[in-house]
Amino acid sequence: MSKRSAPAICRLAVLIGSLAGVGLPATSTRAADNTPTDLKLGLTPSSAKGLELLMTEPMATPIMKVKDLDRLWMVWEAEEKARAEKADAAERMQMTFDRYGWAKRPGDEVPKLPLDYTEDGRGNLVTNCFSCHGGKVAGETVPGAGNTHVDLTTLSTDLAKLRALDRGKDPEQVADVVGPFKAPLNFHRGFTNAVIFAPVFAGLRDPKLGEHFTNHPEVLLHHDMNPPPWWNFKKKTRIYADAFAPKTPRQLMPFAMSPMFSDEKFRSFEPNFVHIYQYIEELPPPKYPYAIDAELANRGRVFFEQTCAECHGTYGPDGKFPNRVIPLDVVGTDDRRFQAIYKERREAANKGWLQYYGEHPVDIESKGYLAQPLDGVWASAPYFHNGSAPTLWAVMNPSERPVVWKRTENGYDQAKVGLEVEEFASVPENLSSRQRRMYYDTTHVGNSAAGHTFPDELDADQKRAVIEYLKTL
Ligand code: HEC
Ligand code: HEC
Repeated sequence: MSKRSAPAICRLAVLIGSLAGVGLPATSTRAADNTPTDLKLGLTPSSAKGLELLMTEPMATPIMKVKDLDRLWMVWEAEEKARAEKADAAERMQMTFDRYGWAKRPGDEVPKLPLDYTEDGRGNLVTNCFSCHGGKVAGETVPGAGNTHVDLTTLSTDLAKLRALDRGKDPEQVADVVGPFKAPLNFHRGFTNAVIFAPVFAGLRDPKLGEHFTNHPEVLLHHDMNPPPWWNFKKKTRIYADAFAPKTPRQLMPFAMSPMFSDEKFRSFEPNFVHIYQYIEELPPPKYPYAIDAELANRGRVFFEQTCAECHGTYGPDGKFPNRVIPLDVVGTDDRRFQAIYKERREAANKGWLQYYGEHPVDIESKGYLAQPLDGVWASAPYFHNGSAPTLWAVMNPSERPVVWKRTENGYDQAKVGLEVEEFASVPENLSSRQRRMYYDTTHVGNSAAGHTFPDELDADQKRAVIEYLKTL
């Protein structure tokens, strides 16, 4: 570990809160292979316990102090900083939440401790799963929805600036932060390069700690992703965009894989993930909160069942979900995610602890992308694995999807169903890198909005009816 570039490692710490100055990992030898056949470890899984663990149990290393929450504004751009300085404490904290894409904890009237972070009992904040898996939908916190506001580059860069300021250096000289192996944290606000973080984490671990971790990743195909909502986990037989991984507690653990944790420490989190798994498994989809035209929706259901159900399943009490993975040349959406986790990485993963030494392997070859369950789909905008379509209308009208779009902070488009956006022919010139991240650019690698032309079998009226039906799921 100590031979690696320390600044690069600390930058990754900022990203997921893995390390940040907590000393070197305890020496550890690889424990004997005692893979449990009972994946639940003899525990009675409890979803309430899972939620409690997600909110209270630090499973990464600190990225900042609680008191930094109200100091970050000191390194903002002049105009924002002046506004923050004049604002009262609650307004300033709201500005802080909005800037980094944090959600209030359910029940909080004013922003206090972000849902995205866990206090470690020593005045430090540790990133938790909700940083990416707990977002705001139409301004309200929805745990389990992908966080469509998060901007890890801005947060990491501001934290680096704050440290510079504290050391008496000029924060303006701090460049945008990237992770180790030069991994960008995100290209667009509301997205993360999360799929690549897993190999990066694995690559940072001391290979001597065991064959269950892979080596330095040679090829990293960076791309933005917004995660699928957790409430659809229960319907899936295998998980992730290409359904290449089994559903096991260990499969949920890569983000607890801080390189600063010893082997034993990392493994000691496993029981927590038995409960977290259960929380995700039981999470219900949120109900559409606005008006629905029931008659139109009923008509839409007929068209849906004729045109969409073979892949996306049927809904209601007798609903069936087919778990179909559709080949890339049939679905035609962006292929970057499909290529990103290549054969050598998968083979290495299957030898390791996360895959129970091959007992619960990942697929060596992906077949395509999973046709996702559409429960609560109104709340999971933007759509497709890369979030390239901001509304259901855009999903349904393949030739009219926007090339570049910019969302409003909390707006919800009830007509097109999904994010309220402004559309552009291209990204405007002369923006700061932070401003540029606010424009989702479908011409950027990994972000293509092509494909999924199946809705074009329907005419405009039928499409409208299907969109109405989708609100009811
Ligand atoms: C930096 C962002 C980030 C963090 C932090 C994160 N995830 Fe994820 N997660 C993702 C992304 C992106 C995907 C989609 C990956 C894919 O499909 O290839 C995902 C996928 C998943 C899925 C699969 C969902 C499905 O239906 O296929 C589960 C379950 C999950 N994450 C659980 C967790 C847990 C538990 C944690 C905390 C230990 C966590 N994640 C932390 C970004 C994140
Ligand atoms: C041949 C199979 C197939 C058919 C038919 C099909 N889809 Fe899909 N659909 C997919 C696949 C695969 C994806 C995932 C693509 C991706 O993420 O890149 C998808 C994604 C979607 C999404 C985005 C889900 C999300 O959460 O991001 C929506 C919405 C959707 N489809 C609606 C429909 C509707 C409505 C119809 C019928 C008009 C339809 N689909 C027909 C295979 C299909």
